[in-house]
Amino acid sequence: MSGVIDLRSDTVTRPTPAMRRAMAAAEVGDDQYGEDPSVTALEEQVAGLFGREAAVFTPTGIMATQMLLRSLVAPGSEVVCEAGAHVVAYEAGAAAINAQVQFRTVEGTRGLLESDAVRAALRPVGFPNTEVGAISAEETTNRGGGAVHGLARLTALRAVADERGLPLHGDGARLWNALAATGEDPAAVGGTFTAFSVCLSKGLGAPVGSLAVGDGDVIAEARRWRRRFGGAMRQAGVLAAAGSHALEHHRARLLDDHANARVIATRLAEAHPGLLDPAEVTTNIVYVPTGQRPAAEVIDELGGQGVRVGAMGPHLLRLVTHLDVTADQCRSAADLLAAALGSASRSG
Ligand SMILES: Cc1ncc(COP(=O)(O)O)c(C=O)c1O
Repeated sequence: MSGVIDLRSDTVTRPTPAMRRAMAAAEVGDDQYGEDPSVTALEEQVAGLFGREAAVFTPTGIMATQMLLRSLVAPGSEVVCEAGAHVVAYEAGAAAINAQVQFRTVEGTRGLLESDAVRAALRPVGFPNTEVGAISAEETTNRGGGAVHGLARLTALRAVADERGLPLHGDGARLWNALAATGEDPAAVGGTFTAFSVCLSKGLGAPVGSLAVGDGDVIAEARRWRRRFGGAMRQAGVLAAAGSHALEHHRARLLDDHANARVIATRLAEAHPGLLDPAEVTTNIVYVPTGQRPAAEVIDELGGQGVRVGAMGPHLLRLVTHLDVTADQCRSAADLLAAALGSASRSG
């Protein structure tokens, strides 16, 4: 671990020595021939954990999402999702090109989709209306500060989807964080989605990898799309082994990340009452407004003190906790940020 406290994202983690050992020891084969035992084991492990028929290993979360949308939704149809969803805001327009869908966005609170708002956004069937192809929910919400839909909301969304015979797609990049926070049964939560992705390279700390999960026929089709997108790999077992290791050793500790995020939020709120509500920090993401001071200036100041945070707007920072930052480092980072914001209010 370097001296820098890097809170820009939970994707910045480096494989632990034990994870590297697991990677080095992995049995491998050509996965496109179905001969990589480590990939197959990971796919079966994840499908089984969610009580679903199948899973397919992918290099990235974006690819898993694109493969699923391409498999579930007819080209030219509309996917209803939250306005700040990663799939619409941060994938470089991939869905227009790869999945060939358009979006209808719904404003939610902290990125959470409300079933009534979604129902109201579904265009009626029939000429000349654009066909609705799917509903997509992100768990947890990245842009929404790591908020959790949870089983009850997802069940309500699934009911709306069922009313119209639509698939419910899940972007589960941080679904592990949601499950850790709520303690809900993975099979129950995973069962609400027609198909969904999960990432290994975020809070779980693997260097690479996501999976698309669902019924056998959907995942078989997604697998064909992985090949078409150029994402089918060969001796990928070295990567899958990192994922299996992460699932075994890094899931329970996600609660430490959540506690650290809450500590950051609490210290900032103590130093600057009203700046943010620590009670809203339920997983590993903290959004911090910078008031009058440009976020870029605060980032530069903290950077000079060995703390890295991200900008999510001209006056908005994002801090994400993960397994490469300790509780002490989070406390130090929060204190330095509180001081930087203090000078912001003095100068502003
Ligand atoms: C909510 C969400 N979905 C999808 C992704 C994409 O994951 P990847 O970078 O593995 O493609 C991210 C990345 O941070 C994310 O936060």
